Amino acid sequence: MLHWCHRKLKILFLVIITICCIYILISSKADNLLKHNKKVHIAANDLPLILWWNAMPNDYGSTSLCDWHFCRFTTQRKHLAKAKAVLFYGSDIDIGDLPLPRFPGQLWALLHEESPRNVAFMPYQQWLQHFNFTSTFSRYSDAPLTTYYLPKVENLTSPTYVIPVADKSGQNNQGLVFFMQSDCDTMSGRDDYVRELMNYVTIDSYGACLKNHELPDSLQEQQHDYLNNLYSPEILKLIARYKFVLAYENGVCYDYITEKFWRPLTVGSIPLYFGSPTVKDWAPNHKSFIDISDFNSPKDLANFIKKLDGNEAEYNSYLQHKFNMVKPIGNERLLKELRTRNSSLYANNFFQSFECEVCRKLYQQPIHVQMASETHYQCPHKPIYPSMFGKVRNNEEWRSAMELGKCQANILDRFLKRNLKFTKDNFTKLLNDEMISGKCLA
Ligand SMILES: *[C@@H]1O[C@H](CO)[C@@H](O)[C@H](O)[C@H]1NC(C)=O
Ligand SMILES: *[C@@H]1O[C@H](CO)[C@@H](O)[C@H](O)[C@H]1NC(C)=O
Ligand SMILES: *[C@@H]1O[C@H](CO)[C@@H](O)[C@H](O)[C@H]1NC(C)=O
Ligand SMILES: *[C@@H]1O[C@H](CO)[C@@H](O)[C@H](O)[C@H]1NC(C)=O
Repeated sequence: MLHWCHRKLKILFLVIITICCIYILISSKADNLLKHNKKVHIAANDLPLILWWNAMPNDYGSTSLCDWHFCRFTTQRKHLAKAKAVLFYGSDIDIGDLPLPRFPGQLWALLHEESPRNVAFMPYQQWLQHFNFTSTFSRYSDAPLTTYYLPKVENLTSPTYVIPVADKSGQNNQGLVFFMQSDCDTMSGRDDYVRELMNYVTIDSYGACLKNHELPDSLQEQQHDYLNNLYSPEILKLIARYKFVLAYENGVCYDYITEKFWRPLTVGSIPLYFGSPTVKDWAPNHKSFIDISDFNSPKDLANFIKKLDGNEAEYNSYLQHKFNMVKPIGNERLLKELRTRNSSLYANNFFQSFECEVCRKLYQQPIHVQMASETHYQCPHKPIYPSMFGKVRNNEEWRSAMELGKCQANILDRFLKRNLKFTKDNFTKLLNDEMISGKCLA
């Protein structure tokens, strides 16, 4: 009896000690937090200052907490000299409006999730080397956005939008292939390819390009705010009714993979993909999409998908990510990426997560930064198309746009190395001179 009582007391004692420990831990943490906040308030001026050079509204400014590190963000250019880092959004870069002269030790950070479509000088080493930190689609960038357009792994495996293959395409005069694009002049020859493919299979085209179908009213609205509706249930339901979906990127950059690829996979349709040469590295399984670049012509592709159309078992073998209950996703690289990628990055605001990546970098001791290079943005220097019978109509225009980009990168490099402020006129004059003399392309 006495022994029993003793044990009970011992246990009670242990419980009390544990509770005390937890209490002390929590209160000291809270205390720290409080102190932290106070210090921030008093010493705001000591926090690393980061300047957004473009893209952000003029009144944008904040003090952000990034994993226990605070940084101040501003768009006020008068603070340039004090800025530890300058942030650029690639699509809005204005040649002739760069933060020069650059202060010693100042880091330049580049965010660019797009292909070089509107920024022809982007893929060149001469330009990229002036940055110390990048966030692009490339896996080799400092904060990769490679799987940015895929919200969650569950989107790939979820049966939510999947309909039986017998109910897809062919019903109610529906075409075999879904297509919806409104950007018709791409440097990847999208319209030219799809137009040719239309000679061999029925394609329902809902966007402005090669349009032959009207979107339901409910979707017309959403189209105007396209980027906020990438995964709207109405769009997904419409796509799900098709056996095949054209997923044709506007550029052929390594790891440049957009929602065009992930959406059909989400709904259980097969993407007909053209774009990133490394897309296989990110697909859920070996066999989950059809790679347009594997075919000699749109005609060959059409024959292949028509065969698949007639063979339900073979069709379903492309949908392992939906039907395989044991291991829906066999691609370990993809699984690892989705597990380890920073979730804030995928909360729909890559601007803010980019800010924080740079902020954290500034607290690193010592700071490991580098000069960026072409591997941070692996895009070809010439337009690349899949093989087809017809000619790509705007081939010459795109080819010269990209060549011009090379000259631009060259000249930018020289100006940046001189580290003097220059204007658009300075730049244009030199560009014209060198284009005329042929020096630029030599
Ligand atoms: C950042 O990039 C610039 C331009 O390439 C380079 O001169 C500088 O050394 C880099 N900074 C660091 C800390 O590596
Ligand atoms: C898929 O992604 C969307 C958009 O982020 C999300 O709202 C939805 O819940 C996801 N679906 C599943 C099944 O995870
Ligand atoms: C993700 O964020 C953590 C901090 O939460 C950081 O240490 C890590 O480097 C980031 N990872 C990537 C891939 O950016
Ligand atoms: C830009 O052009 C102006 C006017 O022609 C000239 O004075 C200036 O030196 C030029 N700057 C550079 C960096 O070439």
